Amino acid sequence: MPVLTEATAQTIVPSEDFPKKFNREAFMFHHKLAENPLFTLPRLMELAKETQRTHKQDLYYDAGKDVAIGARWDEFSPPPPLEDALERIEHNGAWIAIHQAQHDPEYAAIYDQCMSEFSDLSGVDFKKVMRVQDALIFITSPNRVTTYHIDRECNFLLQIHGTKMIHIFDSKDSEVLPQEEIERFWTVDNNAPRYKPELQDHATSYHLEPGNGVHLPVNWPHWLKNDNNISVSLSVNFTWKDSERGNIYRANHYLRRFLKINPRPPFESPLSDGLKNVFMSMTYNPARAANRFMHKLKGDPIRAR
Ligand SMILES: [Fe+2]
Repeated sequence: MPVLTEATAQTIVPSEDFPKKFNREAFMFHHKLAENPLFTLPRLMELAKETQRTHKQDLYYDAGKDVAIGARWDEFSPPPPLEDALERIEHNGAWIAIHQAQHDPEYAAIYDQCMSEFSDLSGVDFKKVMRVQDALIFITSPNRVTTYHIDRECNFLLQIHGTKMIHIFDSKDSEVLPQEEIERFWTVDNNAPRYKPELQDHATSYHLEPGNGVHLPVNWPHWLKNDNNISVSLSVNFTWKDSERGNIYRANHYLRRFLKINPRPPFESPLSDGLKNVFMSMTYNPARAANRFMHKLKGDPIRAR
C-alpha cells in the first residue's frame, strides 16, 4: 500500500514562485518527504536490487573518487557489483541512479502526488503535456561530484537525506552554453556541453538539505557536490510531448555542419522554427525510432544518466 499518510498528503509547500518562475528559471522550493520511510537506505537498497532484477536498464551506478566536474560520462570505469556499490557507499565514491522507481507502486504514488501538486502550483495540466515520466532516485557517497551536464527533462529535484551544493547556470547564457553545444547535445553527443571553470561565477548555487529542492527547466546546465555525507534525492521529472525544441536544435546542427551557416536559434522566428520542426519530424524522428526499435529487439541496455 502506498506510503502516503496524512503527513505526506500535502507534499510540496506552496510558494508564489511556481506560476511565475516554472519552466522559465531555476528556483528553490520546500517539501515534506524527508521523513518518508520509502527513502531510508535499507528500503532503497531493496528497490535497487529489485530494479536490477526486473528492469536492469533503469539502474545506473558507478564508483569513483575525485571525479572531475567536467568529466565525460563515458569516461567512467565499469561499475562494481551492485552490492559493493550499495554496502560500501560511505567510502567508495558511489553514484547510484534508480530510474523509473514508479515500477514500484509505492514510489508511483509519490510521483503522482508530486506531479498533481506541481500541476496545481504551476497552473500547467501536466497530464496533457508529459511524454516520458521518471521518478529518479539518486543515492550518492560523501563528497561525490555529479558532473556538469544538461538534461532533456523538466526537473524537480527534492533533497531527502544529507546535504549538497547544486550549481545551476542559465541556459540562455551563451558564454556558458553556446548554441553549438546544445545542438550537438540534441543530435550526437550527450556530453557536448563543456564545463568552463572560468565561468563558474555565472552559476547560482543552492545548498540542498532535507526538505528543500530546486526546479530546473530543460537544458539548464548544472553540477553538484555532496557535503561529507551520503545524499538521497528524488528527481520528479518528465520530458515534454512537444518535440519542437529538439527538432530545431537538430536542424541547426545539420545546417551548421553541412551548409556552414550560423542558423537562427530557436524561439526567435515562428516561421523558421515551424519549418525546421516539420522537416525534422518527417526525417530524423522516424529514423531514430527505427534505430531504437532495433536496439530493443537486440536487448541492448540503455544506460542513461
Ligand atoms: Fe541533471
